[in-house]
Amino acid sequence: MNWRVFAAMVCVVVCLPFGTAAGEDAAVAQGRKIARDACSPCHAIGATGVSAKAEAPPFRELGRKYPVESLEEALAEGVVVGHPEMPQVKMSEPEIAAFIAWLKTIQTP
Ligand code: HEC
Repeated sequence: MNWRVFAAMVCVVVCLPFGTAAGEDAAVAQGRKIARDACSPCHAIGATGVSAKAEAPPFRELGRKYPVESLEEALAEGVVVGHPEMPQVKMSEPEIAAFIAWLKTIQTP
């Protein structure tokens, strides 16, 4: 199969459920930026690579333990874990939504 046809098919499957693909992309890009600015000093935020801080789990693996949506509440409260090395992160609601939208795109089973 021609790669262009394949890419179009993937897009239909991936983009359609989200309604406006453009809005979704903007959120994902914002979420990636938040992660890069606030989390990457310790966590691996890419599809590959190890965390700068060995104890910090790579973000792509969070979904193995729990649905990433479940982080929404914890992030809204500004607390993710009660670990002393983990700083409290305070994000606004749109920032959290963007962060989780991005987080979903990098999960590996
Ligand atoms: C200064 C280093 C540092 C930064 C910056 C940091 N983390 Fe962490 N994070 C850690 C460490 C260390 C752990 C492991 C804590 C543990 O296992 O008790 C962790 C664990 C986590 C976990 C896993 C919690 C669990 O129980 O599975 C999540 C989710 C998380 N961090 C989210 C974030 C987010 C989101 C950001 C950015 C907004 C961020 N972290 C920034 C150090 C950091």
